Amino acid sequence: MWKVTKKTEEEQPEVVAPEATESDASEVTPVALYPQPTEREERMLEIKMAIHQGLLDKINLAMLDKLAPAQIKSEISALVPELLSSFDQPLNREERETLINDVMDELLGLGPLEPLLKDETITDILVNGSNTVFVERAGVLERVKTRFQDEKHLMRIIQKIVSAVGRRIDESSPFVDARLADGSRVNAIVAPLAIDGSLLSIRKFAKIPIDLKKLVALGSVPQQMATVLEAIVRSRRNVLISGGTGSGKTTMLNAMSSFIDERERIVTIEDSAELQLQQSHVARLETRPANIEGRGEVTQRELVKNALRMRPDRIIVGEVRTGEAFDMLQAMNTGHDGSMTTVHANSARDALSRVEQMIGMAGIDISPKSARAQIASAINVVLQVTRLADGKRRVRSLSELTGMEGDTITMQEIFRFKSTGVADDGEILGHFEATGIRPKFLQTATEFGIDLPSDLFRPDTKIG
Ligand SMILES: Nc1ncnc2c1ncn2[C@@H]1O[C@H](COP(=O)(O)OP(=O)(O)OP(=O)(O)O)[C@@H](O)[C@H]1O
Ligand SMILES: [Mg+2]
Repeated sequence: MWKVTKKTEEEQPEVVAPEATESDASEVTPVALYPQPTEREERMLEIKMAIHQGLLDKINLAMLDKLAPAQIKSEISALVPELLSSFDQPLNREERETLINDVMDELLGLGPLEPLLKDETITDILVNGSNTVFVERAGVLERVKTRFQDEKHLMRIIQKIVSAVGRRIDESSPFVDARLADGSRVNAIVAPLAIDGSLLSIRKFAKIPIDLKKLVALGSVPQQMATVLEAIVRSRRNVLISGGTGSGKTTMLNAMSSFIDERERIVTIEDSAELQLQQSHVARLETRPANIEGRGEVTQRELVKNALRMRPDRIIVGEVRTGEAFDMLQAMNTGHDGSMTTVHANSARDALSRVEQMIGMAGIDISPKSARAQIASAINVVLQVTRLADGKRRVRSLSELTGMEGDTITMQEIFRFKSTGVADDGEILGHFEATGIRPKFLQTATEFGIDLPSDLFRPDTKIG
């Protein structure tokens, strides 16, 4: 077995209480374990690669597509003893079985990544060169013993991933976004841009998407706030979900979308399709990167414009990054109420400045004040999500835009997470609370026949 060396006290990442600033500076993912491969494991890896190579020389690869996995396995099992004979390495039954499975993964799948892809407790896989692989489980990063034989081996797996989606990766186009057959999102970046070996980042596709009920159960949102979120979506308020990398923006967007009425026509626009809307009337669009000659790119902005001609009731953009923010606001302002998107920002206020910057990127002649006025009239609610130092994702605040005062957009906070300290095990302690402000959207909700009890907004009770 591999050794597990726990990091010493001083090396543990600092746990920062979240209330220090409004920003997400505390979003440090803790790193747990550093397993090292044993000599025997190193040897097994060598043998596996040699056997894999031996098999490639012996079998007709074209045949693999035509055989069922069970048949391939029995063929391989028959060939392995002969290939093993050149190694002076007796293997026990378990090792032999592992070896055959690993070789199968090499031949048919993504090699060493396969066990990680099958492990449902893992949400992210991060490969930093051939020797270093991290995974994220329950919000915590840990290093695993998974290794590639060398950079060439890793590169071969990366090529396998990108060629399956008709892309290529090499020195002339050294980074690529791709998707695995199961919907997992992949980014690969290789030399010369990646300095210490190829980098591969996989955000695994959640087979059972996290819904709002689950978010409540996980303690990410209190039930009271979930009730309010449901009312926000049902009464067609325009929503901006803001948060840092991997903070749960897409998950929240997906969860909230479940309250959209089945009868509405939804158009979704994403750079890499991740949303899993449950409604039947969903038109899904995905951008296209430029080809090798630099042609054929289709941007989110073009897709938003196109979506407006598709008679959508609501438009959902996976994440606004640049000029499409302008078109998205236009859509929100022109009858597509209930549209939603996410933005990468550290606070609700920051999210609005980011959107303002993005309007600037749209190349339209518009003064900062008019840009802000557009934002103020388009967006109703900003939800700030965050991943805190304990690995847990929580909604940090729910704010409502109320208009403009002079040049400034006015905003009021309705709910917030208040941290009170850090437990011995690193868990961040705290509770959610209402600020006591009765949101303006209650009026609209009433018009939609939704009556929220006013004690939901009472400031004197700790919730969640
Ligand atoms: N509240 C939650 N509790 C536990 N896990 C969560 C929660 N929200 C999201 N996750 C998991 O965290 C990972 C990141 O979530 P998600 O993709 O929604 O984040 P994101 O902010 O959209 O990330 P990115 O910046 O990469 O777009 C996913 O694997 C998701 O399943
Ligand atoms: Mg996302």
